[in-house]
Amino acid sequence: KNEITGFDSHFLWGGATAANQVEGAFDKDGKGLSTADMVPYIPKSKRGMNMAMDVTSEYIEDVLAGKREDRFPKRDGVDFYHRYKEDIALFAELGFKVFRLSINWARIFPNGDDAKPNEKGLQFYENVFKELKKYKIEPLVTLSHYETPLALTRKYNGWYSRDVIGFFTRYAETVFTRYKDLVKYWLTFNEINVMTHSPYTGGGVLIDRVPNKTSDQIAYQAVHHQFVASAIATKLAHEIIPGSQVGCMLARMQTYPVTNHPDDILKAQRDNDLNLFFTDVHAKGEYPSYMNRFFAENEIVIEKEAEDDTILKQYPVDFISFSYYMSISVTTHGDHEDTVGNLVKGAVKNQYLESSDWGWQIDPKGLRVTLRDFHNRYGKPLFIVENGLGAYDTVETDGTIKDTYRMDYLKQHIEQMKEAVKDGVNLLGYTAWGPIDLISMSTSEMSKRYGFIYVDQDDEGNGTLNRSKKASFAWYKNVIATNGEEL
Ligand code: BG6
Repeated sequence: KNEITGFDSHFLWGGATAANQVEGAFDKDGKGLSTADMVPYIPKSKRGMNMAMDVTSEYIEDVLAGKREDRFPKRDGVDFYHRYKEDIALFAELGFKVFRLSINWARIFPNGDDAKPNEKGLQFYENVFKELKKYKIEPLVTLSHYETPLALTRKYNGWYSRDVIGFFTRYAETVFTRYKDLVKYWLTFNEINVMTHSPYTGGGVLIDRVPNKTSDQIAYQAVHHQFVASAIATKLAHEIIPGSQVGCMLARMQTYPVTNHPDDILKAQRDNDLNLFFTDVHAKGEYPSYMNRFFAENEIVIEKEAEDDTILKQYPVDFISFSYYMSISVTTHGDHEDTVGNLVKGAVKNQYLESSDWGWQIDPKGLRVTLRDFHNRYGKPLFIVENGLGAYDTVETDGTIKDTYRMDYLKQHIEQMKEAVKDGVNLLGYTAWGPIDLISMSTSEMSKRYGFIYVDQDDEGNGTLNRSKKASFAWYKNVIATNGEEL
């Protein structure tokens, strides 16, 4: 029968987190400091719509010397380190088939370049993976989610140094060997393209330490090192864990032209290329020719070793994963209001879309566009590993939280995801971002919530950390139970 159906029975439904945003226990059991531990909370009144992710060398040294009074919310997270059993039980109740989490590299190699791994760190993740196994929840593990060991930043300037490739691949080999019977799905670098927006976040790179170079010149060199490291990690995973699947991860910025003026079309096409460059290298195993001109015009010369191109070509990723929160609109005409100021410079308002309280333009159909584009460009399996609505939640006097806005957002995106699957896209799964409230990556706020599970903690770090179910909890549970039929 010629019937077009939705998700197959193996579709991986779940949720996604990152170690530095949930775990806390930043200095427990031998963990070293990571880059995320140095990012302060700056209230919105002082920060405006800007992201607060970048720090300088001077700031880091001042913090270490005890000269700053700032609070660092990612050091405390939401205490997943001690409450993982309770949290995983809730994920199991939601019916998760998959749970995306990251390993904090600095728990395993506290300084990044240590001779031996930290056993207590290894044990922690083994406990977590075993707890997931109890409920038949498949872990999807990110090796690097904005958590470079701070010592690598101070000693080597993070990923700007080629030396870090060796430290990373040793870390990857260590965790592949240790968890080979527990983890099959791996991601190498979270949102690898973020390096070009924030080299400190993306790779522990401090721009102020490289005189006479632009931020782009530094970032693309650091990204090159990550590409090589990712390819070597992919090779190692395949050797150590038969049947393992390794993916790359992109913050997808689907970009539309505001008008049908050919200049706008070309601008959008170019911006899309600059975003898809990262998945092009990961998936096709070579630098695309359109980058030659960009590199030449920006005086970027990537220093490569002789073997790099062969390594990239030999070990492409098995699947493409990405985060999707919004779309971007661009124009060559100067008369449009800049509304997406906290994320992408130069992006302008799309009159057909609404925005979140943080100015992110909500575009469910853009997800379908993205999925179709990826599918046509690569023909590889896809995995949506982040999607969701950061929003303020209100706890009613009876303790309930009626987050209908969150359900609406997710429903509309899942609908489009279903359409894309019907269009023929090969989609492995969907992990909603932050199934449990966590610390915001870009603003270190607690009040920018994504969860089905509420965590009692405010922006200042006050609260019981108690977990409770929002209205969206029962809703998402039913979505999974009906394999996306009832939304
Ligand atoms: C992605 C990151 O950029 O978006 C996550 O991979 C992050 O770490 C998520 O939390 C949402 O961003 P934010 O700034 O709302 O936390």
